[in-house]
Amino acid sequence: MPIPPIRHWQAHLRASRPLRVLLLIGGLSVAVLLAATVQYIDSMRDREMEGAERELSTLNLSLAEQTASATQSVDLVLTTIIEQLKSDGIDTPEEYVRRMGGRDTYQMLRARITGLPQLDAVTMIAADGHLINFSRYYPIPPVNVSDRDYFAYLRDHDTTAPFISEPVQNRGNGSWTVYLARRISGRDGSFVGLVLGAIELSYFQRIYKALQPDGDGSISLWRRDGILLARHPVLPDIGRPLGQRQFLKVLERAKSGVYFSSGGLNDGARLVATRALADYPLVVNVTRRLDAVLDKWRIQAWTIGAASAVGIAALLLSLWALARQFSAYEAATRAMDAARRAVEGREQAEQALRQSQKMEAIGQLTGGVAHDFNNLLQAIGINLHVIDSRTEDERIAGPARLALQAVERGATLTQHLLAFSRRQQLRPVPVDVATLVERSSRLLGRTLGQSVRVETEVAPGLWPAMIDPTQLEMAVLNLALNARDAMPGGGTLWILAGNRTVASPEAGEPAAGDPAIAGRLPGAGPLPVQVEGLAGGDYVVLRVRDTGTGMAAEVAARAFEPFFTTKEVGRGTGLGLSMVHGLATQSGGGVELDSRPGLGTTVTLYLPRAEQAADVAAVPPAPPPARTKVTDTAAIGAGCAILLVDDEELVRSATAGYLAQAGFAVREAADAAAALSLLDHGFRPDVIVTDHMMPGMTGLEMARTLRARQDETPILMVTGYAEDLTSTAAVREVSLTVLSKPIEPSRLVRSIRDMASVEG
Ligand SMILES: Nc1ncnc2c1ncn2[C@@H]1O[C@H](COP(=O)(O)OP(=O)(O)OP(=O)(O)O)[C@@H](O)[C@H]1O
Ligand SMILES: [Mg+2]
Repeated sequence: MPIPPIRHWQAHLRASRPLRVLLLIGGLSVAVLLAATVQYIDSMRDREMEGAERELSTLNLSLAEQTASATQSVDLVLTTIIEQLKSDGIDTPEEYVRRMGGRDTYQMLRARITGLPQLDAVTMIAADGHLINFSRYYPIPPVNVSDRDYFAYLRDHDTTAPFISEPVQNRGNGSWTVYLARRISGRDGSFVGLVLGAIELSYFQRIYKALQPDGDGSISLWRRDGILLARHPVLPDIGRPLGQRQFLKVLERAKSGVYFSSGGLNDGARLVATRALADYPLVVNVTRRLDAVLDKWRIQAWTIGAASAVGIAALLLSLWALARQFSAYEAATRAMDAARRAVEGREQAEQALRQSQKMEAIGQLTGGVAHDFNNLLQAIGINLHVIDSRTEDERIAGPARLALQAVERGATLTQHLLAFSRRQQLRPVPVDVATLVERSSRLLGRTLGQSVRVETEVAPGLWPAMIDPTQLEMAVLNLALNARDAMPGGGTLWILAGNRTVASPEAGEPAAGDPAIAGRLPGAGPLPVQVEGLAGGDYVVLRVRDTGTGMAAEVAARAFEPFFTTKEVGRGTGLGLSMVHGLATQSGGGVELDSRPGLGTTVTLYLPRAEQAADVAAVPPAPPPARTKVTDTAAIGAGCAILLVDDEELVRSATAGYLAQAGFAVREAADAAAALSLLDHGFRPDVIVTDHMMPGMTGLEMARTLRARQDETPILMVTGYAEDLTSTAAVREVSLTVLSKPIEPSRLVRSIRDMASVEG
């Protein structure tokens, strides 16, 4: 497993709070474990030390007692002798010398020392320092000890306390001896002499050796002023005053104690227990080397430390593994989220594609139907006009005019169908949407009735839109009527306009919106712009919102489809929204629907921004002038020859009939080929009136052919199908005049007349 770089983890830590908590808990656990281990090892050391101290103190005590009793036995010999001198009435130095110098005293002294291995000899010393009697030899050698420390001290001090001398080394065998001396005083306190016990220090050495604590320990005997008397293991320092020893300081405070010493006699740090004897100026020390004391503890500490280190390592390892797992889990979650979003995005895109393909297919179907239907309406309309114009009988003319009204309504329907299939002929111009909104609201205020309040709001600095104003007004009307139908109990209708820049879809940026518009959506917040097929750029947004019933999701999904309606038969055709959709998309904009049941509906039109400012006069063209009777125009066509090209028999013959009645000389052709052949045979019409969509050659293609032959005869194209003619460049190139079906016959006549007269 490669260890991820530190920076990678830092980024993880910053991003993930649970990971931080995890690491914190882990870090704390490690710290606690570490502290507990250290604390435990430390307390173990303390316990070990306490145990060692107790052990040393106990040993020290028993050794001190042993030493004291050994010394006391010697002392007892001395005090017994002194007691006996007293009871014998020896009170002066002379008496002492005279009465104790005999062999019987020597025998007595020898008897006294038997059974006391530590007592080497007993000596009686006169006030001038020479020996009176000596348990080792008889007769006594002439020796004087007046230069010895004990002699000087006891001669000068009237004391009943024993005196312990400095150790003296036997020059023969090198063994060390110390003297316990007592003063013999007269009744008046005068100095009579001494009794002296020679204690062999090797005696203590032997005891100490036997009792030495462990291998590393030492036991030593000191005079209270710091002179070493005996020690095991043996040292060459016996008899020396070894400076101010540390135990002396301890003894200043108490009779015994334990302390650390580092150095001095000792090889390294030692634990020392010290104890002063109660009746003699002697001190016994017991020591142990510190590292030996702590040997067992050290092993235990290492064991525990190692175990704890293994524990901490395991903890850190599992923490690390956990953190890795955790961040892997988070990464997986993120990846899954991303994948889910991608799938959702794709599904949405597919859905949108299916929807637009469906709309496209319906549009083609609708366009075809509308085209044929338009032709039929054209034929019916013209014939009705003919009937109307040929009779004065109101019983015939009346129904004919009613039938004509029906034809007009049919024409509006086909307009909607064509609009939806984007085959309507549009005349986009720069439009001031503010004016249009204002005019529509006035009109709607009257149309929608009392219960619906109409409110408008237009953002200042509204751009001009490039759109067919008549169709736009129709679209607003359709939306308003839908809103009215959705608010049977009344409500408010808003018409809002604002500017909006849409980022190109690749940029994926949210659109910069006009807050006045965005804020008025039902529900919360501005919607992201996801208008199907909307290119990036500037748009004028026109929004119609109501407080009506809203739509269920299934209804909203199909609302733009032509013929989709939830209204009862006769109340709705299902073409309103499809017209709006067709207009917006054909104009290079888009439409967006936001509707929720109970929350109302908002339809938003995106209209492309116009390059030039709106021509204020660009209002919808005035309604066509009142119909004139054909009879009134009978003379209009006189002397004017027309070539009428249309593949629809019904339309062609009805139109031909009407034009003939208007005085035109009409020749008919069923298709472009027939028309061209008539022209080839020398027919020279003043105007060619032609349909666009025809089998074989279209009207536009025929016009191109003629222009190619330098034939400049004016051509009037009458079409219900604006598909190929949306490009005005093509129309201009062959200089055509275009009229949309169905056309009122009188308008057709006037147009032909105008074209012919311009020619003429
Ligand atoms: N503002 C709205 N509130 C609620 N539902 C609506 C609204 N606008 C449209 N709809 C629903 O969408 C359907 C289709 O509307 P559309 O305008 O295309 O047809 P229509 O109104 O039914 O008929 P037409 O407009 O041709 O007379 C409506 O039948 C209605 O169910
Ligand atoms: Mg409608």
